[in-house]
Amino acid sequence: MTIKMQHVKDYGEMSQKAAAFFYEAIHSNPKIHLGMATGGTPSGMYQELIHKLTEHPLPLGAIKTFNLDEYVGLTQDDPNSYYTFMRETLFAPLKLSRNQTYVPDGRTTDHEAECTRYENLLDTHGIDVQLLGVGANGHIGFNEPGTPFHSTTHVVQLNPSTREANARFFDRQEDVPTHAITMGIASILKAKQIVLLASGETKSEAIFQLLNGTMSEEWPITALQHHPDVTVMVDEAAASKI
Ligand code: GLP
Repeated sequence: MTIKMQHVKDYGEMSQKAAAFFYEAIHSNPKIHLGMATGGTPSGMYQELIHKLTEHPLPLGAIKTFNLDEYVGLTQDDPNSYYTFMRETLFAPLKLSRNQTYVPDGRTTDHEAECTRYENLLDTHGIDVQLLGVGANGHIGFNEPGTPFHSTTHVVQLNPSTREANARFFDRQEDVPTHAITMGIASILKAKQIVLLASGETKSEAIFQLLNGTMSEEWPITALQHHPDVTVMVDEAAASKI
C-alpha cells in the first residue's frame, strides 16, 4: 500500500494544510482539473484556499472543477443542492464561471443519460487531483457500502444513516433527498492523485479500515488501497483507532 499519511492536530490545521496543498497544485499547473467534494469536511479548506488566493492571487481562468455528486430532484438553484453549496462556498468567491465548474445535474429526468454524459465528461477531461471526504460508514462520494468497485457514475439510494448525517444541512430531515447521482468508485480511482480529508472521531473506523482492513466493497474507502497516489490528512480524533 502506498498511502501517504499526514497527521495534524485538529480540523483547523487540516484545513490549512489541505489549502496549502491545493494552492501549490494550482500554482504548478494553471490548467489543473480538480475533483471537488462537498460536506462539512472540505468547507474549512475552501475558506483557507479563498483566503490564500485573495492574498496571493493566481490565474484561475483555465482551471476546471468536477464535483463528486449531487442530490436527485434538486435544481441547481435549490438552496440545498450541492451546486448551490459549491457556488456559495467556492465558485462565486473565486469567480469561477459555469463553464469551468461541473456538477452532475440532479434535476434531469433521464438519469441514465446524465450518468453517461458525466462519466464521458470525466473521461474527456481527466482529473488531476481528486479531493475526498468520507462518511462514517466508509462511503466516498455517495458510494455506499456494497457499491461495486467497477462502478462508474450512477444513481444511488442513500442509506438512512447517510440521510441522517446530512440532515443538518436541511430544515427538516424528511427534506433530505432519497437518491443521488455520484461518480462511481471506478470514476474516482481514475484521478491521477487523491487527497482524502478526515476529521473527528466518527471517521476513525473508516480510517482504520482504509489502513488495516481487507479491501472489501463493504468499506468503499478500502478501494483506495491500490491507487498509486493517495494522501490522507487526518486529525488526532480521526486517527484515534490506528
Ligand atoms: C456526503 C458527501 C460525501 C462526504 C460525506 C461526509 O455524504 N456526499 O462526499 O464525504 O458526506 O460528509 P462530512 O464531511 O460532512 O462529514
